[in-house]
Amino acid sequence: MNRPLPSPADIALSDQDFDQLRQTIYSYAGIVIGPEKRWMMRARLQKRVTALQLGSMAEYLTLVRGARGAAERDRFISSLTTNVTSFFRESHHFALLAHTILPALAAKDRKISIWSAGCSSGQEPYSIAMTVLEHQPALAPSVRITASDIDTSILQKARNAIYKPGELTGIGPEQRARYFQPVRGTAHPGELQAGSSLTAMVDFRQINLNAHWQVTEPHDVIFFRNVAIYFDAMTQRSLWRKFHRALRPGGWLLLGHSERVPTDQHDLLCPSGITAYRRPD
Ligand SMILES: C[S@@+](CC[C@H](N)C(=O)[O-])C[C@H]1O[C@@H](n2cnc3c(N)ncnc32)[C@H](O)[C@@H]1O
Repeated sequence: MNRPLPSPADIALSDQDFDQLRQTIYSYAGIVIGPEKRWMMRARLQKRVTALQLGSMAEYLTLVRGARGAAERDRFISSLTTNVTSFFRESHHFALLAHTILPALAAKDRKISIWSAGCSSGQEPYSIAMTVLEHQPALAPSVRITASDIDTSILQKARNAIYKPGELTGIGPEQRARYFQPVRGTAHPGELQAGSSLTAMVDFRQINLNAHWQVTEPHDVIFFRNVAIYFDAMTQRSLWRKFHRALRPGGWLLLGHSERVPTDQHDLLCPSGITAYRRPD
């Protein structure tokens, strides 16, 4: 006889399950889930327990941690990431790119490599692409933008490059007309899709910044914005060392408005403007 399955509201999150689940996301992704996020975790994982027809959060934990849980681990991570983003978010970095960084790189006459690390649904890398096309169009063939995230579902959305009207804030009518096209046959009026002039400039990859990673060639600019806030100081310190190695001498690291490289690591990444750092030459 099949056992009756609990309704989502009946799936409890005990203190022990909460501690083990947050330890699990911390060890995979470096994401710190504080006690204030317990109800967020419960609400999001209840949906997974129900979808998998499991009986409890403890069964879910066993699945995610077990050898047969590889596929579910991606969904587990996806359930617990925060993907808030927008086009031209923290616009001062795009002004810096347009008026300081790109003109200096143009003079070097070589390939230019830009990484959006923690790119979410793609608005950040496509904003970088628009900045290049608007301000240094002749450079566009030399620019490669790598965009990465741990979250495979959000990366799929980034690759599809389809945005609802509410997700298009930050882009004016002229940019919409120039770089986006209407989506044929969509049930959602007003959706636009980024055109090939933008998508051709961006390569998407899944990279877990909390796991082993290394770059094949150093980057000129790394956008790593509004991701470090989810990590603790120890994870951040190790990332500042890795980003130092991933940058060319003189390369730029751009952070979110509440993120900072600590003073004792300024020999690796030297402050150079608002939440902007450079690897010393
Ligand atoms: C708030 S969004 C930031 C998006 C964009 N950078 C911006 O500033 O608008 C944070 C992103 O970091 C990603 N993330 C969290 N932990 C990560 C990890 N360990 N490795 C790579 N990406 C991670 C999340 O999946 C999410 O898409």
